[in-house]
Amino acid sequence: MAMKTHTCGELRANHANQTVTLAGWVHRRRDQGGLIFIDLRDRFGITQLVINQETHPDAHTKAKDLRGEWVVQVEGTVIQRPDGMVNTNLETGAIEIEVHDVTVLNPAKNPPFYINKDEENLDEALRMRYRYLDLRRERMQRNIILRHQVTRFIRNYLGDRGFVEIETPFLFKTTPEGARDYLVPSRVHPGKFYALPQSPQQLKQLLMVAGYERYFQIVRCFRDEDQRGDRQPEFTQLDMEMSFVEREDVLQLVEGLMTAIVENVTDRELVYKPFPRLQYRDAMERYGSDKPDLRYDLQAFEIGDIAIRSGFSVFADNASAGKPVKVMRVPQLGAWNNSQIKKLHQELEELAKSVGAKGLAYMAIPTEESGEVRGPIGKFFANELKLELFERVGAEPGDFLIFTSDERPIVYEVVDTLRRHLAQQLGLIDPKQVAFTWILDFPLFEWNEDEHRWDPSHHLFTSPYPEDVPLLDTDPGKVRGLQYDLACNGYEVAGGSIRIHRREIQEKIFGLIGLEVEDAKQKFGHMLEAFEYGTPPHGGIAPGIDRLVMLLAGEPNIREVIAFPKTQQAADLMAGAPSEVFPIQLEELHIAIRDEDLD
Ligand code: AMO
Ligand code: AMP
Repeated sequence: MAMKTHTCGELRANHANQTVTLAGWVHRRRDQGGLIFIDLRDRFGITQLVINQETHPDAHTKAKDLRGEWVVQVEGTVIQRPDGMVNTNLETGAIEIEVHDVTVLNPAKNPPFYINKDEENLDEALRMRYRYLDLRRERMQRNIILRHQVTRFIRNYLGDRGFVEIETPFLFKTTPEGARDYLVPSRVHPGKFYALPQSPQQLKQLLMVAGYERYFQIVRCFRDEDQRGDRQPEFTQLDMEMSFVEREDVLQLVEGLMTAIVENVTDRELVYKPFPRLQYRDAMERYGSDKPDLRYDLQAFEIGDIAIRSGFSVFADNASAGKPVKVMRVPQLGAWNNSQIKKLHQELEELAKSVGAKGLAYMAIPTEESGEVRGPIGKFFANELKLELFERVGAEPGDFLIFTSDERPIVYEVVDTLRRHLAQQLGLIDPKQVAFTWILDFPLFEWNEDEHRWDPSHHLFTSPYPEDVPLLDTDPGKVRGLQYDLACNGYEVAGGSIRIHRREIQEKIFGLIGLEVEDAKQKFGHMLEAFEYGTPPHGGIAPGIDRLVMLLAGEPNIREVIAFPKTQQAADLMAGAPSEVFPIQLEELHIAIRDEDLD
């Protein structure tokens, strides 16, 4: 006999009068004396059981002992509930089970937190310590299943389009993506180490040399870097690479895939179709971020040319020194009364200062014609100058304008921080929406002041714009990379590029980033060698699955969509990893722990 004939999410009115066997966890139990009601839960749903003392005294006696999270099996008859008694909150709400027989498959200890309700501010450490119970909760099950649906959809979508899923090794050599490597010591080769890949970047390019043309892999990547809400030491990429493509082909494919995921797997609403495309520089200038949240329309306008004609010396001086002077227009707040405005300004100014600003000037535009512009810097702008300013930013009566001016990186940081803050504070975000945007034309290099050399802003295999190649010799900072990022709701969800497929350009890049050709050969000799055997033009991209699913699930942290994530300190609190190992293991691995590192 089957352990269960149906799931707890399956039975409907048309099953009435059938004898069924269900099994699952006791979700909730209500003892009303002669009648005991139990909500029985499994992965598929909840079904109400009724155990009647009069008709089934043995079952009733057993049901009296049941407690939350016990694992039970019941046999009973499906009863259709009378019209007024239908529970519309439950998929199975049209029926209940009149139980004849109860079997306890396993009792359970009292869990350390509620499984059957979503507690606010549940202690994170407790959740991690008992992750298997946390994962039992409905919210987590929904997230983990959504993740499965997304990856399944991706496999079908790409499989249908000629992509081949190919596994690549974890025990490999460093593949730098800007983080520290996780190293694995070799027992067989004393003193040598494998590096866990930060991404399969090299291997997927080698697969293009190998002629597979369209590769993908849903693959774990390892990066030893500081943790944040959107970062884990091990995380999953949808890694892709294609041959004989240009940037446009990659963008189209990924845009099609993302659109199809949102429309087929979720009930979210895509704000933009097609996805907008922003130049990196424009994104920074308008939003202060290369991953702007475009669900709302706050943006910064450059007004240096206006400020320079004003009497406000901080701005005029900055503008003449080539520093940005930016205004952000916040609709509707100018109508607030003085003390409201003052309080808001104080709060925003504090926030701006926390990311390096020296101040935060403002103007509150009155709602009536006759009103005065409020704010201490108003007097420094003549009336015509004010009008010019308002026109630049599209200001309307009742708007609140905030001004920031400083070194460029600080201004970007201020704009980004205030945008995110105001969007939350003013309720500008519709949580149902997802807004993707492409960010294009990143500079190929960033200047590393400490090391006095150029660092790749993406990775060292990214191709420069063909027309910018001569600049590699003259002005590397101006070289644009054929790199693209996909941003969504304020997060970077994917990054990729068209690659260098010609050895002489690759060698030139190695030179610029301070890798001597000998060094480069030692690290990437296999790549350089491979490129000499007929390498097709190729490019690819890697969406982060954790971040994508986090956004589709509407969760604030990627931990919520990873079954067994690590803590902020890169630890697993459930199993207690990382942990010490036996001395004999270290010996076999030719490793000695320094005295000062022992507790
Ligand atoms: P990149 O380093 O931009 O590109 O990574 C691609 C995407 O992976 C996700 N991601 C992370 N997610 C969670 N935790 C992390 N620590 C983490 N780091 C990155 C992000 C990011 O956009 N090889 C290139 C891709 C390519 O060029 O094809 C690469 O790895 O969503
Ligand atoms: P002050 O003339 O110093 O009283 O400044 C007038 C207003 O300008 C105040 O609201 C300051 O916060 C603001 N302010 C000063 N320096 C800056 C700056 N670099 N960027 C933006 N606002 C500033």
